[in-house]
Amino acid sequence: MSYPKKVMLREVGPRDGLQNEPVWLATEDKITWINQLSQTGLSYIEITSFVHPKWIPALRDALDVAKGISRVKGISRVKGITYAALVPNQMGLENALEGGIDEASVFMSASETHNVKNINKSTADTLQVLKQVTDDAKKANLTVRAYLSTVFGCPYEKHVPIEQVIRLAESLFEFGISELSLGDTIGAANPVQVEIVLEALLKRFPASQLALHFHDTRGTALANILTALQMGITTFDGSTGGLGGCPYAPGSSGNAATEDIVYMLDQMGIETNVKLAKLLPAAKWIEEKIGKHLPSRNLQVYKSSL
Ligand code: HMG
Ligand code: MG
Repeated sequence: MSYPKKVMLREVGPRDGLQNEPVWLATEDKITWINQLSQTGLSYIEITSFVHPKWIPALRDALDVAKGISRVKGISRVKGITYAALVPNQMGLENALEGGIDEASVFMSASETHNVKNINKSTADTLQVLKQVTDDAKKANLTVRAYLSTVFGCPYEKHVPIEQVIRLAESLFEFGISELSLGDTIGAANPVQVEIVLEALLKRFPASQLALHFHDTRGTALANILTALQMGITTFDGSTGGLGGCPYAPGSSGNAATEDIVYMLDQMGIETNVKLAKLLPAAKWIEEKIGKHLPSRNLQVYKSSL
């Protein structure tokens, strides 16, 4: 079996991890956490979401967080890190630009029902919005990453035809996105399914432009990552602590914990540049702030070693 030498990790904890938290995490704490994550060797952090505050109240301080990470307690933004944020539409982009974001993450679902529940539009109407947002973001010198959710299953429609995934992926790449993150929104994927989906997509798009975004709802995230690695994928999303879930995907839980991915890759001799020794205290810190047990395995090992 052959494996890549290096893997790129996209940390989505401050966004995907926090968006569904019923506990309000103070703006200053969000900023402190992002600053901690910035010291771990991560080169990409999705810090917040410029969506409607009524839809995602936990991130209603998006602009303050985005502006705050460059100022808090004299720590400046770390060079070489891409600070990204979720952007659903033109208004989100304007706010993201005001916040000094480096990359806009646009998003839509591969299934019609989840798309409507999540962003209140059909997929056809969403494509029109995302085309314009991508154009405008690029004119403002931002790179644009896109998420396609429910690729491996929809909480409402269950099976999602691969043809639908391919059609939407083609449109998003035509708009000029630099990377497409394939979302297992409800954490239902299994390694055989990952192989089937990737086989179809890799005939059309380069592995270097695809990322995988696995939620660990049913404990299959690392197995799915392993399969994707074997198929040449080198970019994965993770959430420190395993924090998270989508409020419009009932029962979904957090992404694969970033530290669990780092541990596995370290042991396999695959470089991520992320220092586990720095990431683990950041996972412990957010667990204490949120005040509930987080699912990360390596966090439990770390705590029991203290
Ligand atoms: P809408 O109600 O259809 O928006 O919401 P609208 O365009 O009709 O406007 C209605 C009002 O919202 C107007 O205000 C707008 O100004 C305002 P009013 O005139 O009534 O006072 N508005 C906004 N305000 C702030 N920021 C904005 C914005 N846009 C309009 N950007 C909208 C459409 C997309 C805004 C809404 O549905 C929304 O915010 N949805 C967000 C849902 C979300 O964040 N879901 C979770 C993230 S996706 C996910 O977790 C999956 C992922 O992790 C991958 C995976 O796991 O698969 C990415
Ligand atoms: Mg997600």
